[in-house]
Amino acid sequence: MKIPQPTALITGVNGQDGSYLAELLISKNYRVIGLHRRSSSNTTSRLKSLMDNDSFILKEFDISDVGSCSNILSTYTPDYIYNLAAQSHVFSSFSQPVYTVETNTIGVINLLESIRSICPNTRFYQASTSEMFGASYSENDQHGKYQDENTPFSPQSPYAVAKQASHRFVQIYRESYGLFACSGILFNHESPRRGDQFVTKKITKYIGELVNGKNPHYHKLKLGNIYAARDWGYAEDYVQAMFLMMQKDTPSDYVVATGQSYTVEHFLELAFKIAGMNYKDHVIIDKTLYRPAEVNYLKGISTKAREELGWRPSISFQQLVEKMVLYEISETKYD
Ligand code: GDD
Repeated sequence: MKIPQPTALITGVNGQDGSYLAELLISKNYRVIGLHRRSSSNTTSRLKSLMDNDSFILKEFDISDVGSCSNILSTYTPDYIYNLAAQSHVFSSFSQPVYTVETNTIGVINLLESIRSICPNTRFYQASTSEMFGASYSENDQHGKYQDENTPFSPQSPYAVAKQASHRFVQIYRESYGLFACSGILFNHESPRRGDQFVTKKITKYIGELVNGKNPHYHKLKLGNIYAARDWGYAEDYVQAMFLMMQKDTPSDYVVATGQSYTVEHFLELAFKIAGMNYKDHVIIDKTLYRPAEVNYLKGISTKAREELGWRPSISFQQLVEKMVLYEISETKYD
């Protein structure tokens, strides 16, 4: 007997999370419709392993265009939609607040409205973020300062405000119209596939270039605030959590995090040490890279995800940094 093949639509499939999620779903015998925004440069390098797979279909799409959303839903009537499309760079959101809201808020409404009218049984996942907590945290004897599903939001950037609005829209569509709509409140998640503009990739890429002689005129690494603390997890683990949320009987929102918080400086120190160097010899602080408002401290407690989804991180902070550094300095990377 032929087992029916579920169809999942992934917006932002060409990003770090999109590519890992597409691989995961294909391994589970899904048909994956991968959506990405039109671009004149090649933005699909992370999808190499999927391009020849008959179950993977890549399509152009613009989340800020409601016509684009409704057309794609009418064409494929997917069982699942994972919305990973976003203007995901916090720093850029200060200079592009309108574009950020169009993509990160209006885009989500476009999808929710299209689901409501075209395929109300489709399950929807929204990529929410720990940035929504901003300056806010909870505190107790067990965890010290932390954030979980009960911590109030206090967004500190246009990015976080836009994400908080869409987070609430998802809840409203769930509660008001009965959609299966859930959000993962994901804390920072990194990997060798991380985009170049994020701090972990910026650091590890610099190290790789230094070690491999790709910085012939020797430029130092310019960074902004290295004293901010983040809860850094491994992206491949985090797409597992997205998948698990979509398998539940009832939709809900989940914090996904490691429960450990380290500063950017700590990441820097460890990354350079793994490559046999001292970061202080190679880094300069550039005040222009400071954000107008910073989120100083993030540490997520994901008890709910651990208990209800059976999810937990598979690697430690040390292993994550090693993975990223070793990838960047590996010989084959520059072949
Ligand atoms: N990007 C960047 N570049 N960040 C720097 C730099 C630099 O040169 N120097 C210091 N930082 C600091 C930032 O100020 C911030 O405190 C921290 O490094 C992490 O910055 P990012 O890697 O850009 O990530 P983020 O924490 O702002 O946001 C990421 O995680 C969120 C989840 O918590 C992004 O992936 C968001 O899309 C995501 O929602």
